Parts: sequence; C-alpha cells; structure tokens
Amino acid sequence: MQSWTQYQNDNKDRFLEELLGLLRIPSVSADSKYKGDVARCADAVKDYLLQAGCDSAEVCVTAGHPIVYGEKIVDPKLPTVLVYGHYDVQPADPLELWHSGPFEPVVKDGRIYARGACDDKGQMFMHIKALETMVKTGDLPCNVKVMIEGEEEVGSVNLGRFLEENKQRLAADIVLVSDTSMISMEHPSIESGLRGLAYMEVEVTGPNRDLHSGVYGGAVANPATILCKMIASLHDENNHITVKGFYDKVAELSAAERKAINDAPFSLDEYKQDLKVDDVWGEAGYTTLERTGIRPTLEVNGIWGGYTGEGAKTVLPSKAYAKISMRLVPHQVSSEISDLFARHFEALAPASVQVKVTAHHGGEPVVTPTDSPAYQAAAKAIHTTFGKEPIPTRGGGSIPIIALFERVLGLKTVLLGFGLDNDNIHSPNEKYDVANYYKGIETIPYFHKYFAESFAAQ
Ligand code: BES
Ligand code: MN
Ligand code: MN
Repeated sequence: MQSWTQYQNDNKDRFLEELLGLLRIPSVSADSKYKGDVARCADAVKDYLLQAGCDSAEVCVTAGHPIVYGEKIVDPKLPTVLVYGHYDVQPADPLELWHSGPFEPVVKDGRIYARGACDDKGQMFMHIKALETMVKTGDLPCNVKVMIEGEEEVGSVNLGRFLEENKQRLAADIVLVSDTSMISMEHPSIESGLRGLAYMEVEVTGPNRDLHSGVYGGAVANPATILCKMIASLHDENNHITVKGFYDKVAELSAAERKAINDAPFSLDEYKQDLKVDDVWGEAGYTTLERTGIRPTLEVNGIWGGYTGEGAKTVLPSKAYAKISMRLVPHQVSSEISDLFARHFEALAPASVQVKVTAHHGGEPVVTPTDSPAYQAAAKAIHTTFGKEPIPTRGGGSIPIIALFERVLGLKTVLLGFGLDNDNIHSPNEKYDVANYYKGIETIPYFHKYFAESFAAQ
C-alpha cells in the first residue's frame, strides 16, 4: 500500500482542480437568488464524500439550505471523529473591488483567489481529501463522520434542529473543524476559543415622510443625525461599551492567561502596515491580541438612510437604520446581551424619534480545552508536519454551532484551522495559499492517527 505522502503527491494536481471546481459554484447562502447553486454545491460535496470512500453520503433537506452528511465506519470499537465544515459562502460584493471574478477562481503567486477559497470551501475540502487519502491507502485509523452545512454564514439556523434529530447518527468522540486561522506558516497555532455573537438591527423613525431639508431642516429631528449620536454614545472615551450591564458576566483572565495570549508572535507595525492605518483603536487597557481574542466588542456593520445615490438630493429622511453586532466572550449570553442592548438603545432615543430594535441570529462563545487528548493530538499533528509546537491563540470570529455541539451532542471541538488572518475572508479578493491547502491535507490524517492512539492508550 502507498503511504499518505505518496498518495497525496501523486494526486496533488487533481486535489487542486477539484477545489477550483467547487469554488466555481456560487453557493451564497444569504441570497435566495443562489438557492439552486447552493443545492448544486451540496450535491457536489456529497459526490466527493462518496469518491473519498464513505460508506454512505446524503444530502439532507432542511427548512433552509441542505446539510451534507457522510460517514466511513471502519470499526465501531474505534473512536469516531465528527468533521464539521460549511460549503456556503458570504456574498461577493462589492464586486468592483475584485481583481478577478469571485466565482472564477485563479491561482496566482501560489494563492487561490475566489470567494470561499479559505472560508470555508478550501478548508472543508482538505478534510475530504484527507479522508480520501486515508481510505485509499488503507490506513484510516478511526471512524470518520462528516457533516458539511450550507447555512453557516447565515447563522446555522437549521443545524441545531438537525443535531437534535440526529443525536445517534452524529455520536462521536470529538468534533474536528477547519474554519479558523493560524498565525503564519512559520508560527503555526491552534485557536482555543471563539467569540459569541449578538446581531441587532435598529430603525430610527422621525417624521412620517421624507421632508425637504430646507423647508423643515433645523426644526424636525433628523433620524440619521440622531442615529449617529446614539451610536457614538455606545463607546465611552476609553472605548468601553456603555450598554448597561454589558460587562457584568465577562470573564476576566488571570495575569498568566493574559501573558500567554500576548506571548504569541505579533508585530503591531506589520499589522498597521497591512491594513494601511496609522494607528489601531480599541478598549483602553488591552492589547490588540486581547481586544480581538478575549474582550467583547460592538461594531456597526452597516448604516444607511436618506439619499445615497448619485449627486445631491436635499432631503431630511424619515428613517435611518444600522446593523450592529456584538462579539461576546465567556460567560456572556447572546440572548441576554441582545435584551440589554435593546433596552439600552430604546432608552437612548429622544422624544423626537421612535426606535425599533430587532435581534438577528446570535451564538455563544466557546473555549476549547488545551489539556485534552484531542488538543494534544492536534498539537502533535501540527508538530509532525510543521516541525514546530503550535501556539494556542484565541480567535476573534464566531462559529455559533460549536457551542451547540457541546450542549446537544456533549462533544468538545478542536479548531484545526489553516487560514491566515489576511486571507480576506468576507472581503473582496479572498484567497487561500496553495501551500496551506496542501499542508492541511497533509496534517489532518495525523490528527486522526494520534487521536486514535490516545484512545487506545486509555
Ligand atoms: N469561519 C468564520 C469564523 C472565523 C473566521 C473564526 C476566522 C475564526 C477565524 C465563519 O464562517 C464566520 O464568518 N462566522 C461569522 C458568524 C456567522 C454567524 C455569520 C462571523 O464570525 O462573523
Ligand atoms: Mn467559516
Ligand atoms: Mn465566514
């Protein structure tokens, strides 16, 4: 039988071509216009699971976009790894900022450019190719279940129910996910936590109709101005969030834990240079790594109202809107924070306007243990293929379903991500380095091997 390395070297080009094929399918979950493409992508993922050697694979219908599930059971006595990923992608706009079509992948200077290249098609597909490697070389050290969803980018609204209804089928010993980033290829790292999310929309209404800004301006509250003032008041002069009760449950880290976070290699100069900003911004008393890893935040994701078309139109808008998200840390609770925000924001409004606050999807923060056999297996796998011990980091992003894996299935997760922070996920010109793609495919089988060995040793 061939070795894993041999098999992967022999099939390298095909592994890349197949990923490019998946990237050509515009599986944008947020936009109903792409519903057919999302379904087509699910079918393609299912076919790849069968091609990889799964005993069975199916496209599972949900109230929203389908979930793809496949499994390869080698021996019920062996441990089982449940792989999770998502085949849906974020919308590609603004299209004019892309150097090549978001769904016409190009490989340039060792990088794959396309929407979903890193988040998460490229990373999810590494698992399918790793599984194929293990099956085809006759060296699969454990049982593998694969669940790839199509609604992660819209809050995984139907996946919780799927977990509830498939507890038996999804029974496993650990969840393995590649949908996060590492510091760099020189400094491999493993995220040991993710932030939660509370996503809100606000609507501020002034007069009952749009008004001439000369005839009425100065005498009637302008909802756009009021909204800006309200939003501006959500951070104080130290950039602390002013929502009442917001920090009540926030876990404060020990000096040792904070030191560990700040020990990770990080250059503020490079960070600023990469983003072309002269200075960073954030909560007083915390470093950049802390601000993105262990502190909660509040961001305006979009703000609109009135005339935004070409040229000038003099108008005092009747309404103004904003989408505001808060990233949460242990032990904040998404629904509680949404309520606190709604109450606070409503109370901010002067009598001259009316305010409506609605909550979109949310998710809970997670911390994954670093002293578990599963984390150790991931660290050893990284060590095997990178020749270096991975650094544990705290990620700033959110994957809401991870908290449900624990709550519904009783399973811990390992976040074995191979993306880089500058992969432009959710932005124009998303990319994934070909080297990271191959490195992931190379590393993943070792996770399965070491995880199975840790079980046998017990
Ligand atoms: N893969 C990301 C999350 C992520 C990115 C975690 C980088 C760590 C590092 C995921 O697809 C994502 O974008 N999640 C959303 C939340 C979701 C509810 C839309 C996010 O974090 O904004
Ligand atoms: Mn993702
Ligand atoms: Mn994403």
